[in-house]
Amino acid sequence: MNMLKQVPTDPVTCGIRNRFSLLIAFLVAMLVTAAVYQTRDSVVSSDDLTTEENSADSAQENSTDSSQQHCDYFSGKWVFDNQSHPLYKGPNCSFMFEEFACEKYGRKDLEYENWRWQPDHCDLPRFDALKLLEKLRGKRVVFIGDSLNRNQWFSLTCMLDSAITPTLRTFSYKGTLIVFNAIEYNATLEFYWAPHLVESNNDDPRNHTNFNERIVRVESIEKHGRHWIDADILVFSSYLWWRWPRIQVLWGSFNSSDGIFKEVPVPRCYEMALQTWSNWLEIHINHSRTRIFFTSMSPTHQWAEEWGGPEGGTCLGETEPLTKEGYWGRGSHKDMMRSVEEALEQLQKRGVNVQILNITQLSEYRREGHPMIYRKFWNPEYRRNPIRHSDCTHWCLPGVPDTWNEILYAYLVGS
Ligand SMILES: *[C@@H]1O[C@H](CO)[C@@H](O)[C@H](O)[C@H]1NC(C)=O
Ligand SMILES: *[C@@H]1O[C@H](CO)[C@@H](O)[C@H](O)[C@H]1NC(C)=O
Ligand SMILES: *[C@@H]1O[C@H](CO)[C@@H](O)[C@H](O)[C@H]1NC(C)=O
Ligand SMILES: *[C@@H]1O[C@H](CO)[C@@H](O)[C@H](O)[C@H]1NC(C)=O
Ligand SMILES: *[C@@H]1O[C@H](CO)[C@@H](O)[C@H](O)[C@H]1NC(C)=O
Ligand SMILES: *[C@@H]1O[C@H](CO)[C@@H](O)[C@H](O)[C@H]1NC(C)=O
Ligand SMILES: *[C@@H]1O[C@H](CO)[C@@H](O)[C@H](O)[C@H]1NC(C)=O
Ligand SMILES: *[C@@H]1O[C@H](CO)[C@@H](O)[C@H](O)[C@H]1NC(C)=O
Repeated sequence: MNMLKQVPTDPVTCGIRNRFSLLIAFLVAMLVTAAVYQTRDSVVSSDDLTTEENSADSAQENSTDSSQQHCDYFSGKWVFDNQSHPLYKGPNCSFMFEEFACEKYGRKDLEYENWRWQPDHCDLPRFDALKLLEKLRGKRVVFIGDSLNRNQWFSLTCMLDSAITPTLRTFSYKGTLIVFNAIEYNATLEFYWAPHLVESNNDDPRNHTNFNERIVRVESIEKHGRHWIDADILVFSSYLWWRWPRIQVLWGSFNSSDGIFKEVPVPRCYEMALQTWSNWLEIHINHSRTRIFFTSMSPTHQWAEEWGGPEGGTCLGETEPLTKEGYWGRGSHKDMMRSVEEALEQLQKRGVNVQILNITQLSEYRREGHPMIYRKFWNPEYRRNPIRHSDCTHWCLPGVPDTWNEILYAYLVGS
């Protein structure tokens, strides 16, 4: 811009009648203009159009990283790519969780491992386990939520595992925590079970009530929060355990006799829980130290009719992703997604940045990525009625959650 202004005041063109000089000046001006427009074009085409910050100014000599930050990773399509994916072999992952180990439990069609997510306006950086470990050196990462969040945690653990010498990592269960440690890097990756984020009567990872007996202490989160107050990176997710019409809310403590119980519609209760969570984050987390992420709801594929499959069918037997653009199943409640977005907007106004990992849409396409009957079932009865008990909720590993983590990687390493 400055250069354009300078051209007419350049001493060469001032007061000289020579037509040749004027012509040269004109040509120079044209060239400069063209150059400026070209730079702008390339910035606009390589950057995400939906963000405000595509200014051509800046000392961004090396602009790869910053354009990664601005890209909308969440709209795009799945591309079959058996060269780059899977990122690891399932049987090679030392700490694979039995509920996600589809290959081990007999799944034969393994193409679901080969799909790569291609965002519309940019590329995801190629996952490099060593680069991520370097980034996590001396850091503590905690995933907090339900079994889908655990699915994402195991995925990331497997993604890192292959890059670490077996003797230089540890893995352990410590109460409500699962802890993975990369010793050489002093990097800790933990999963903390808290399916409602706030306190509930299902905070034991192994002993759960029926859905109609669920109680949440919607205003209490301290009991959980003190376990991850000093983490460097927090990844939250909570949705599945809220997919019922109503839930019991408790004011007071579980073992006191003067507690007040009230049945509350779940969407309202979800908002209250997010409010408690937000307040806790605002007050207790050091925002210059801790980066916070929230993974949006993970879709289920329980009802085949939704994508034109047989009535009464489930995801069982599906071998290919859905291709209908914008496909959205009825298990993913947009209004509850909106509640999360509102909570995050409010937090931003209060100076707390939470990056959403908006993985719902991209995962909606992946009806074939679930364990179905190819996993360990704790209840042997389930095997006798495979259709009814197909797991169309969690995800096989390697698989869809690896992509969620590739996006997380883009945010962590790209910055
Ligand atoms: C950008 O920076 C990264 C590391 O910071 C480097 O590996 C890469 O080569 C750079 N790219 C360009 C185009 O300079
Ligand atoms: C990758 O996929 C292509 C096309 O489906 C197939 O021809 C090829 O054999 C596959 N390669 C491997 C290593 O599986
Ligand atoms: C899996 O493990 C086997 C045996 O240890 C090894 O040969 C192979 O390279 C590994 N594959 C990958 C993709 O890590
Ligand atoms: C290892 O990382 C933790 C934080 O996760 C830190 O408190 C500790 O000082 C680190 N230890 C070493 C030896 O660097
Ligand atoms: C599960 O929890 C309930 C009460 O919350 C308790 O009565 C029961 O003994 C527990 N079961 C196991 C196996 O721990
Ligand atoms: C409730 O139980 C907790 C431990 O689970 C205990 O610390 C607390 O004192 C108990 N409160 C009452 C009122 O009994
Ligand atoms: C917050 O974190 C920053 C960066 O690690 C550190 O310098 C600062 O002392 C921390 N503040 C508090 C109150 O712990
Ligand atoms: C997340 O994705 C959904 C569907 O693709 C979209 O409706 C929603 O606005 C997105 N939310 C955010 C915060 O990006």
